[in-house]
Amino acid sequence: MKFFVDTADLAEIRDLADSGLVDGVTTNPSLIAKSGRNMLDVIAEICDVVPGPVSAEVTATEHADMMAEAEVLAAIAPNVAIKVPLTPDGLKTCKALRDRDIMVNVTLCFSSAQAVLAAKADASFISPFVGRLDDIGLRGLDLIEDIVEIFSQHDAFETEVLVASIRGPAHVVESAMAGAHVATLPPGVLRQLYQHPLTDKGLAAFLKDWKATGQSILEQANERKNAAE
Ligand code: G3P
Repeated sequence: MKFFVDTADLAEIRDLADSGLVDGVTTNPSLIAKSGRNMLDVIAEICDVVPGPVSAEVTATEHADMMAEAEVLAAIAPNVAIKVPLTPDGLKTCKALRDRDIMVNVTLCFSSAQAVLAAKADASFISPFVGRLDDIGLRGLDLIEDIVEIFSQHDAFETEVLVASIRGPAHVVESAMAGAHVATLPPGVLRQLYQHPLTDKGLAAFLKDWKATGQSILEQANERKNAAE
């Protein structure tokens, strides 16, 4: 399962990319606005930090304008994935960009029917928003499970399921269990995945017992090295 980071905050992206566990980045107009920075600059910097797919969303709503914006964004770096909304113009743009071998992430997906349309438009990624479905009393993971099942029945559907609007570790684990290809995580959620009190407790106990031995791995290695010389 690939992990993308869902933010336009370069400091967060740099910090998390250093873990070696970040396979891409997703942004959207709200995340760009939150960064307070020029969009083209931010996307270019992200593409320099993370070699995997970096989603940059068009802000136009009509096909011709979407294409014009997509050309600008795609020219920033080869790892830019153009994000388009799941609308008729968005999918028309998706198909046109895919015919030019440009990565496309179709976003704001809330139904299996929409996901099938995105797959037929040859989307590289489809982004169902699980958190926003939970917010209205549905189970967002039901949609992920359905989309993964539908796509598994059709070899022609090569679109990767990219779970978005993730609110916590449970969404990540359940998406992995459902067979989703990618999860895009807010930075805080990615950091939460490491955390368990029993890990902290167990490590403290190991280190306490080790300290009591007075031993040092590196000192022993140096002693052996010196003895061999
Ligand atoms: O990538 C989409 C994500 O940023 C939306 O998340 O929490 O606003 O539903 P949220």
